[in-house]
Amino acid sequence: MDFKEELKKYQKIVNCELEKILRKEELPEKILNEAMEYSLMAGGKRLRPILVLSTYKIFKEDIEKCMPYGIALEMVHNFSLIHDDLPGIDNDDIRHGKPTNHKKYNEATAILAGDGLLNGAYIVISNDIKNTNLENEEDLKNKLKVFNEFSVAVDRMIAGEYVDTEYEGKEISNKYLEYIHKNKTGELIKLPVRMGAILARASKEDIEKLTRYAEKIGLAFQIKDDILGEIGDEKVLGKPVGKDKKMKKCTFVSKYGLKGAEEILEKITNEAIEELKDYGKKAEFLKELALYIKNRNK
Ligand code: IPE
Ligand code: IPE
Ligand code: MG
Ligand code: MG
Repeated sequence: MDFKEELKKYQKIVNCELEKILRKEELPEKILNEAMEYSLMAGGKRLRPILVLSTYKIFKEDIEKCMPYGIALEMVHNFSLIHDDLPGIDNDDIRHGKPTNHKKYNEATAILAGDGLLNGAYIVISNDIKNTNLENEEDLKNKLKVFNEFSVAVDRMIAGEYVDTEYEGKEISNKYLEYIHKNKTGELIKLPVRMGAILARASKEDIEKLTRYAEKIGLAFQIKDDILGEIGDEKVLGKPVGKDKKMKKCTFVSKYGLKGAEEILEKITNEAIEELKDYGKKAEFLKELALYIKNRNK
């Protein structure tokens, strides 16, 4: 398997699906819709929907069945980024190498564009549930389970973002730092793996094993974000470097040093991959994805 090619293929499918939910009509709120499109189509890696699709694919081929869930997740993710960049939170001017939403439009528009994407995600999922054949009881049950997990994960992400802002500039314990990372980032990375597995009717054991994989790559993802935030190349990364230090933000780098953070990243990536060993070739993409998260430069 050529991982880069597979990744590109998935990104293309996801972008194509996202295009379909954009509103292009001439409406009084046209600029709000443009603002949502601006962030949603700005060049994100699409990691979360790709996790839904590639986990589902371990068990089943008809990946279009779980697509709405991946799309909804990408919408919520972009809501979280728009609000994360706002002056009241991280006050960042650049994302994906472009002005952040509130810089391109204004604060009111950015707040509402975030709200619109958050609620839009619920519309996408509830439409899929509404259109499910009621006789298909097992699928319906799984979709409702996933819908519930989705709303709980969004709640956790918001909690993590809150604690992150409350403790900015303050020294925090290892436990609190992990709490922030697990919630603000980990939950929305664990969720897609669980969504893919549950929707594909995976067994309880498989769901548990894949959840452990996902928890590990979720933490790895934010540790790498901390590392890139310290030593990344701003041009490649598309967002500010050195900002955490400037704002005295507690991160894995400030807590364990660069080398320490890199060692933890290496260790949990290997642990994540270890969880996949029973799946052989079927989980090759997920294995490569864990390595991609560790080695990425954007
Ligand atoms: C960035 O997430 C924000 C974090 C949760 C650390 P991504 O790096 O997945 O964002 P994009 O969508 O690919 O830009
Ligand atoms: C973002 O965390 C997490 C969420 C948006 C939920 P960060 O603030 O560390 O991420 P970046 O570096 O701005 O992408
Ligand atoms: Mg932040
Ligand atoms: Mg930020």
